[in-house]
Amino acid sequence: MREILLGGAVLLLDGAPRTGSAGLIASAASRVLGLAPSDLVVTHSCSRCGSDDHGRPRVRVDNAASDTCAVSYAASSGYAIAAARAGDALGVDIESIAAVSAHQVDDVLLHPAERKALLGLTGAERDRHRARLWVAKEAVAKLTGAGLRMDVRDIRVRVDDDCADAAWPAGFGQHQGARVYYFAASAEVIGALAVPGGAEAGRLMPADASAAGAASGRTATPG
Ligand SMILES: CC(C)(COP(=O)(O)OP(=O)(O)OC[C@H]1O[C@@H](n2cnc3c(N)ncnc32)[C@H](O)[C@@H]1OP(=O)(O)O)[C@@H](O)C(=O)NCCC(=O)NCCS
Repeated sequence: MREILLGGAVLLLDGAPRTGSAGLIASAASRVLGLAPSDLVVTHSCSRCGSDDHGRPRVRVDNAASDTCAVSYAASSGYAIAAARAGDALGVDIESIAAVSAHQVDDVLLHPAERKALLGLTGAERDRHRARLWVAKEAVAKLTGAGLRMDVRDIRVRVDDDCADAAWPAGFGQHQGARVYYFAASAEVIGALAVPGGAEAGRLMPADASAAGAASGRTATPG
């Protein structure tokens, strides 16, 4: 188990996950709250159907009604990651660089401007950039609580070394911009943490913000 401190959050990276998400989420939250994991109850909250057995994870102290801190979780390629931070929202994702490129789904993941920028890159640099765009978008989708009910092409990401800015259309969650922090689980598996704010939404979301959705004829449903 590795602890990563990033963007004001505590991340716990498990390289041999055997159980579900609740234990790792409680452990990450316990480090933010100064409580024992056993004092915490992990549930979920689906912004679509209201169910508490799937959707965005939540943590509260046993017998208390309100959430304690924001948490997020992802598992992929033999790793699980849980993130916790004071505040109302965050999102985390982790993916294999090779797996993202193998899927060949640029048309459904990327904004036309992001696809154009990828064309200027080659080989490993292109694969790495594509994976960075993807983990950032999925982390943002979790931050909003909408998940992949958002059209992720409408999440605009501008990568800047080990960080990125992201912005998305109004109607998804309480925020419209995020700062994204990248981390490496291994040379081949990268992750992203998205926390609210940081994005210069006006610059990232120009008047063509809905171009991707309009081009596909698809309209995203706000979460
Ligand atoms: C969230 C989502 C992007 C995760 O993608 P994934 O690549 O399959 O899985 P990951 O390992 O990256 O993440 C899984 C974790 O995301 C979290 N998660 C699930 N839905 C979430 C949401 N709406 N917002 C934030 N986090 C969410 C959960 O913690 C989940 O793990 P857990 O259920 O074991 O606790 C995708 O599953 C999704 O969009 N789900 C929502 C679909 C939906 O709204 N359905 C309507 C049901 S009524």
